[in-house]
Amino acid sequence: MLEYPVAFHRELGMWVVSSHELCLETMKDLRFSPNFRHWEYAPPPKPEAEKDDFDIVTDHSLFAVSPAQHLRLRKLTMPAFARHVMSRIDDRIRDLIVDCFETIGPADEFDAYSAIAANLPARSIARMVGVPPEDEKIFIKFSNSVVKASRINLTERERKQAQHDSLEGFAYLKNAIADRRQRTYPSDDFLAALVTAGEQDDRLDDWDILAVVMALIAAGADTAVDLHTYVLQGLLSHPEQYRMLQAKPALQENAIIEALRRGSPGKLPIFRFATQDIEFGGQQIRKGQAILVNLAAAWRDPQKWNDPDALDITRNLEGHIVFGAGPHFCIGTYLVRTQGGIMLEEFIRRFPQAELARGDGDLEYDYEHHNARRIVRLNVRTNAGASIRNAA
Ligand code: HEM
Repeated sequence: MLEYPVAFHRELGMWVVSSHELCLETMKDLRFSPNFRHWEYAPPPKPEAEKDDFDIVTDHSLFAVSPAQHLRLRKLTMPAFARHVMSRIDDRIRDLIVDCFETIGPADEFDAYSAIAANLPARSIARMVGVPPEDEKIFIKFSNSVVKASRINLTERERKQAQHDSLEGFAYLKNAIADRRQRTYPSDDFLAALVTAGEQDDRLDDWDILAVVMALIAAGADTAVDLHTYVLQGLLSHPEQYRMLQAKPALQENAIIEALRRGSPGKLPIFRFATQDIEFGGQQIRKGQAILVNLAAAWRDPQKWNDPDALDITRNLEGHIVFGAGPHFCIGTYLVRTQGGIMLEEFIRRFPQAELARGDGDLEYDYEHHNARRIVRLNVRTNAGASIRNAA
């Protein structure tokens, strides 16, 4: 039992919520907003006349709009996440992942971070949005600048530069949206689905659509890097679990979520800001105060999870909050499942005898990373020769 599931951290000047139960409640409670404009120390907003596309789209973002507008955006974007739209993405992503493994080829050893994890996420989102491979470079530059501009540890000059670098991407996407609006033939790619979503009198405008695409990048391009390394690190450091997954492929989705839960790649928690005075978890939270929702602690809360530090791919994960909860529940779970699932399938098919090189894969973290406990080296011994010999 946590002694202080809600506590005020003096140095941070914020409330910290750490138990599974209260993190869940915080995320579901609409009185806690993810919009930092509600923060007592929020900098003044930019004057309207000085705003560029990046600023305008940020104002429309899923984390900035009112709860009613957020609900509207989530509802209107639902058709773009429908099975028939998403399943077309599977094939495009499979190609991308197979390409990565073809490049690795029959290597005895390779670094899973550079060969797989760093290579896939932004490109997968490009495929998901419907950006053709020949325009991928523009999208990757856009994605990198959006991710960079959202960092909290930039100088003002660096932030302006990152924002400026994103403008070409916004122009590109505006054209792509205009193209979908003009199409007279049926088209069910993701952007087209966003353009046609909703009723005649309530459609997504260009800013709404750009805000959704930007949210996919901001929330998905970086997190999914860790998806690959943490899933492989978790499984290969527990060979019995890796073998169990090979024997029972139906455990794949559970294995991915369990590896994320236990690995907890995020360095930063998520934030909420009190929109009114709130009595919560036995504490009095004042309007304007920030709440740090410590998901990493909640994912290993012994009140919720039996033996929380163990990796158990058969664990009953019902009620997990690995992808958040409540109105801001992760939009990218389909992509996480598809991307992580196809990567695992290919990995297991090609390297059933794989192990971490020299015991821990020469595991290296980037402790300076702004957002994640980023694994930047994970060397895998494929033992591919042994598999071929065994098969012969
Ligand atoms: C390892 C992979 C991932 C994890 C662990 C993860 C986790 C989360 C969590 C915890 C939230 C809730 C944040 C909050 O309430 O403040 C969230 C929201 C979100 N995620 Fe993910 N995510 C992952 C990958 C992705 C990907 C690949 C995408 C996009 C393709 C994505 C898109 C989003 C978006 C757009 C939101 C905000 C939804 C909203 O505000 O309505 N995520 N994610």
